Amino acid sequence: MASKAAPSCRLVFCLLISAAALRPGLGLYTVNSAYGDTIIMPCRLDVPHNLMFGKWKYEKPDGSPVFIAFRSSTKKSVQYDDVPEYKDRLSLSENYTLSISNAKISDEKRFVCMLVTEDNVFEAPTVVKVFKQPSKPEIISKAPFLETEQLKKLGECISKDSYPDGNITWYRNGKVLQPLEEAVVIIFKKQMDPVTQLYTMTSSLEYKTTKADIQMPFTCSVTYYGPSGQKTVYSEQAIFDIYYPTERVTIQVLPPKNAIKEGDNITLKCLGNGNPPPEEFLFYLPGQPEGIRSSNTYTLTDVRRNATGDYKCSLIDQKSMIASTAITVHYLDLSLNPSGEVTKQIGDALPVSCTISASRNATVVWMKDNIRLRSSPSFSSLHYQDAGNYVCETALQEVEGLKKRESLTLIVEGKPQIKMTKKTDPSGLSKTIICHVEGFPKPAIQWTITGSGSVINQTEESPYINGRYYSKIIISPEENVTLTCTAENQLERTVNSLNVSANENKEKVNDQAKLIVGIVVGLLLAALVAGVVYWLYMKKSKTASKHVNKDLGNMEENKKLEENNHKTEA
Ligand SMILES: *[C@@H]1O[C@H](CO)[C@@H](O)[C@H](O)[C@H]1NC(C)=O
Ligand SMILES: *[C@@H]1O[C@H](CO)[C@@H](O)[C@H](O)[C@H]1NC(C)=O
Ligand SMILES: *[C@@H]1O[C@H](CO)[C@@H](O)[C@H](O)[C@H]1NC(C)=O
Ligand SMILES: *[C@@H]1O[C@H](CO)[C@@H](O)[C@H](O)[C@H]1NC(C)=O
Ligand SMILES: *[C@@H]1O[C@H](CO)[C@@H](O)[C@H](O)[C@H]1NC(C)=O
Ligand SMILES: *[C@@H]1O[C@H](CO)[C@@H](O)[C@H](O)[C@H]1NC(C)=O
Ligand SMILES: *[C@@H]1O[C@H](CO)[C@@H](O)[C@H](O)[C@H]1NC(C)=O
Ligand SMILES: *[C@@H]1O[C@H](CO)[C@@H](O)[C@H](O)[C@H]1NC(C)=O
Repeated sequence: MASKAAPSCRLVFCLLISAAALRPGLGLYTVNSAYGDTIIMPCRLDVPHNLMFGKWKYEKPDGSPVFIAFRSSTKKSVQYDDVPEYKDRLSLSENYTLSISNAKISDEKRFVCMLVTEDNVFEAPTVVKVFKQPSKPEIISKAPFLETEQLKKLGECISKDSYPDGNITWYRNGKVLQPLEEAVVIIFKKQMDPVTQLYTMTSSLEYKTTKADIQMPFTCSVTYYGPSGQKTVYSEQAIFDIYYPTERVTIQVLPPKNAIKEGDNITLKCLGNGNPPPEEFLFYLPGQPEGIRSSNTYTLTDVRRNATGDYKCSLIDQKSMIASTAITVHYLDLSLNPSGEVTKQIGDALPVSCTISASRNATVVWMKDNIRLRSSPSFSSLHYQDAGNYVCETALQEVEGLKKRESLTLIVEGKPQIKMTKKTDPSGLSKTIICHVEGFPKPAIQWTITGSGSVINQTEESPYINGRYYSKIIISPEENVTLTCTAENQLERTVNSLNVSANENKEKVNDQAKLIVGIVVGLLLAALVAGVVYWLYMKKSKTASKHVNKDLGNMEENKKLEENNHKTEA
């Protein structure tokens, strides 16, 4: 250990000095350097005034010295020994500070600065420590997924080029993972690069996962010694896809609707809560013990009421993992009897029934010509006004879009029926004859008049409502005539006639006028006689004379008088 370097050093003294320099070296002077940096080692000795030269050496493990640098105090020259390891890396300054560039692990040695005078050798050792911070740890060879209840390699944590070597620690969700039999297996490995002497540490983790590890971050860290003590660097987080088996199966009906009706398409969707979710299932239709293998959906198209029942689905390999749902297919049947176009005769009876069969209580609404009816129609004796378009409509309130309607177009046919009325105008000059006709289809009315036999223009026709209308003519007949009203439709031709007595026409009035003049003259004469009588018999009243008139006149005379009066008015 003692230096035997200085040739001029007296052995005993030398040893003493060396020992003195070493002894306090329990806390040896140490220079810490980062790998690749320049190591700077001051000499740490006071330069004696009679210094001859300074020298640096290092000590091999066996204690033998290797001289590396020399500086002459007198000649001011520097000389480096031919040591391959330090070729071009050394620099010895004037104050005997030695610099070694590009620090290597092999530079971890004890170096000694020696100052040599004529009669003495001073030595000061310096220990060099080199540190290399490892690379940030990385999790590699990551498992694509982990499976519950299986010990699987999760990955490896690697940290490279460390000096000295470090330790690797695994963490789950920030907490240190301790080895645990059959659950956490950590294998640590370190390798030294023979050239650089740097260590690469790897730690592989085998891990038995549980569902609690879903979304849990795994990290690792490297703990290493730096010049100022222990340091820790953490890796990035790694999250693993955790595979776990299905523990529950659920079944859904799509589209999600309150109620399913006949004609709908429905899709059963089966879900397992495992990861990854199961891709195939067995679907069981109502009353069928054998499942149908399908993807996670099974579609039923155009369902009928007989599709009502319990539907199930199970895992393919684990039939006890099963889910069930009840489906009710709503239906609504409406049967209208009779329906379509129905032709009946007036007075006929027509029972009508609208029967509903549905999965729920359904309400019936009757409409006639778009007007709501209070009750369902039924006819014991048909009238013309019963004709129309009847609609029986029903809907299931709870089931959207479930509506049914049927219609009945009722036609009430009838042969023409005629009723004639006659009205004499108060003037007596015209007569209004009305032909009331009832029947369906609408009968055509034709008038004929006897004698002339000509067809008379209808003067007025009423609208045709509820199978009836009338045609009205006003005539002023010159002779007794018979008016005939003919009503005809596809069913029958009906004829009715009415005798209308003649009016007193103008010519007759003229003829009769002479007669009337004669009568008037006669009456005047009679009045003259009466005047004489009047003179004789004083008290006689006018009313009496009127009374006499009435008593005297027969119907025809009265009529004539009336007509005369009218004539004078005209
Ligand atoms: C020695 O000299 C170098 C420059 O050559 C200087 O940087 C250093 O501080 C000096 N050391 C001492 C201990 O004087
Ligand atoms: C590595 O672990 C060992 C044993 O647990 C310990 O002695 C050593 O100091 C650790 N090294 C670091 C860098 O923490
Ligand atoms: C049901 O599905 C068929 C095709 O599978 C389609 O033609 C039909 O329109 C669908 N019916 C309904 C009510 O969506
Ligand atoms: C349901 O009834 C229809 C006829 O309405 C028939 O074609 C079909 O096979 C029946 N389905 C079931 C499951 O009974
Ligand atoms: C139908 O409605 C009546 C009363 O409105 C009720 O008594 C009956 O239980 C209902 N039936 C169903 C199947 O809902
Ligand atoms: C009936 O009226 C038409 C015009 O509306 C007329 O041409 C015809 O001569 C009339 N017939 C009789 C008999 O009056
Ligand atoms: C017309 O009819 C009446 C009775 O309605 C009768 O007394 C009269 O003689 C008839 N006149 C002619 C010209 O036929
Ligand atoms: C109308 O008069 C004719 C004779 O002019 C007679 O035969 C017929 O019965 C009369 N009709 C009615 C309805 O009175």
